[in-house]
Amino acid sequence: MYDWLNALPKAELHLHLEGSLEPELLFALAERNKVTLPWHDVETLRRAYDFGNLQEFLDLYYAGADVLRTEQDFYDLTWAYLQRCKAQNVIHTEPFFDPQTHTDRGIPFEVALNGIRHALDDGRKQLGISSGLILSFLRHLSEDEAQKTLDQALPFRDAFVAVGLDSSEMGHPPSKFQRVFDRARGEGFLTVAHAGEEGPPEYIWEALDLLKIERIDHGVRAIEDERLMQRIIDEQIPLTVCPLSNTKLCVFDHMSQHNILDMLERGVKVTVNSDDPAYFGGYVTENFYALHEHLGMSQDQAQRLAQNSLDARLVK
Ligand code: HPA
Ligand code: ZN
Repeated sequence: MYDWLNALPKAELHLHLEGSLEPELLFALAERNKVTLPWHDVETLRRAYDFGNLQEFLDLYYAGADVLRTEQDFYDLTWAYLQRCKAQNVIHTEPFFDPQTHTDRGIPFEVALNGIRHALDDGRKQLGISSGLILSFLRHLSEDEAQKTLDQALPFRDAFVAVGLDSSEMGHPPSKFQRVFDRARGEGFLTVAHAGEEGPPEYIWEALDLLKIERIDHGVRAIEDERLMQRIIDEQIPLTVCPLSNTKLCVFDHMSQHNILDMLERGVKVTVNSDDPAYFGGYVTENFYALHEHLGMSQDQAQRLAQNSLDARLVK
């Protein structure tokens, strides 16, 4: 079954490039850039990947991203992820990039973007993997800071397909970013947002009504609100679900309790994604395989999930 799932053609629609930084590359970049790390070795770092919630993960994720300094670092990060895509028959990817994680450390916007862009270009040419990059705002920071990040992106408008919203969800509702999303749409960006991962269904309503999103990132808490379920089924609004992430961050206690297949059978356009694969124990195929192992996902269900991912692309 693993090999069969691996061979299915699929798209990945929820992947944070900074979350694909494997411990081995993290240590190699630390050495290259003479960065002193708080972990002694790769094994010590891996042992720290034990999270009680989203914030505990984010603290480590931002600490790890500190080793990314040069254009070559961002190229190497993105290229390593694209190699994984190739190995798992991910034929299209729409990764997130968090500029503020880097500009707030003094890394110029274009240093990070150029490395990522060149790798995505080479992925297209050398690996045949199509892609569309999503600029994601950090929601624990202010809307003004998001506006400044959008200003920095405008000279590179063509590098992006959409803007998104990630980081600490609770206490940072989509409504906080309504104006910057309005402006981004005016500049021709599509919009997506993380909503209903830890946050309540109301945050999903806000993301749909105020941010006018094309897809909901995570969205698993939609199941608590029947009227919302009807809307996302009627309008076929895609959900980018990340099963291993949800269990590692304790959104569900165990994979056997995950609601993705219930949603699929109710007609929700759900997709399978890896979120931050270096931290959560696997790339897309491992996420599919976990659904087979713990929820009894059939080949027919896997095919429908993979087809949903191809249908829900922003870049057609
Ligand atoms: N949720 C919110 N922010 C994130 C995530 C996530 O799963 N991964 C990286 N940033
Ligand atoms: Zn995410």
